[in-house]
Amino acid sequence: MSEKKAILAVSFGTSHKETREKTIGAIEEDMRRRFPDYQVRRAFTSGMIMRILRERDGIQVDNVAEALKRLADEGFDQVVLQPTHIINGDEYDKLMRQARECQSLFHRLNTGKPLLTDSADYEAVCRAIMGEFSHLKKDEALVLMGHGTGHFADAAYAALDYRFKALGAENVFVGTVEGYPGIEEVRGQVRKYSPRRVILLPLMVVAGDHAVNDMAGDEEDSWRSVFEKDGYETRCVLKGLGEFPEIREIYMEHILKAAKQQG
Ligand code: CO
Repeated sequence: MSEKKAILAVSFGTSHKETREKTIGAIEEDMRRRFPDYQVRRAFTSGMIMRILRERDGIQVDNVAEALKRLADEGFDQVVLQPTHIINGDEYDKLMRQARECQSLFHRLNTGKPLLTDSADYEAVCRAIMGEFSHLKKDEALVLMGHGTGHFADAAYAALDYRFKALGAENVFVGTVEGYPGIEEVRGQVRKYSPRRVILLPLMVVAGDHAVNDMAGDEEDSWRSVFEKDGYETRCVLKGLGEFPEIREIYMEHILKAAKQQG
């Protein structure tokens, strides 16, 4: 008898409908196309986002435990949990704990890795972004705004910045809102490079609140305002990483690896 298989796409979530479909929705679409033997389901990890969606839009999204329970009730035997998170941080740790708790509900339950895990992932992410910005000129700097965290996985951001330089992209810089490097470190690096124009891009799967406010907002401490004040012509690209096909492909590879363990 053939086994019922599912992929659960686990995202932090966003209350912005348009970016949600272009990013998380696009990742899930790719999963459906690439893994036709699997049912693809959605779960979010942010309780706040799920509450906003429920109360404001009447949209019900399961959390991880609910989604897994539902799959078990429907008789699925093999499940791959694939986070759309960027780093192996708190959200990922929490997901692994939930997966362990639900292990007994399934014949096989495997978890794919976040975007930046293996060394090869870093290179793939750099190349994907360099490909999307192949028109970047010498006198322009591309500044990526990551989330950042107090978790030790915060080191991923500096490592990614280093990898861009190692691949020859000396005008690409990585900073974070809540971790290291922060805006002050990035400002210093950009000043040394001394570009004419600064282009800002969220290093986040969705272009949600942080991108709209912390990066591109009108407040004087937004990254756009800070770089404008420093005298650069500044442009914001409000696209989440989930909009880039080569980034989505990295997640597909991670699913493939997790699914292989299931045989
Ligand atoms: Co945040």
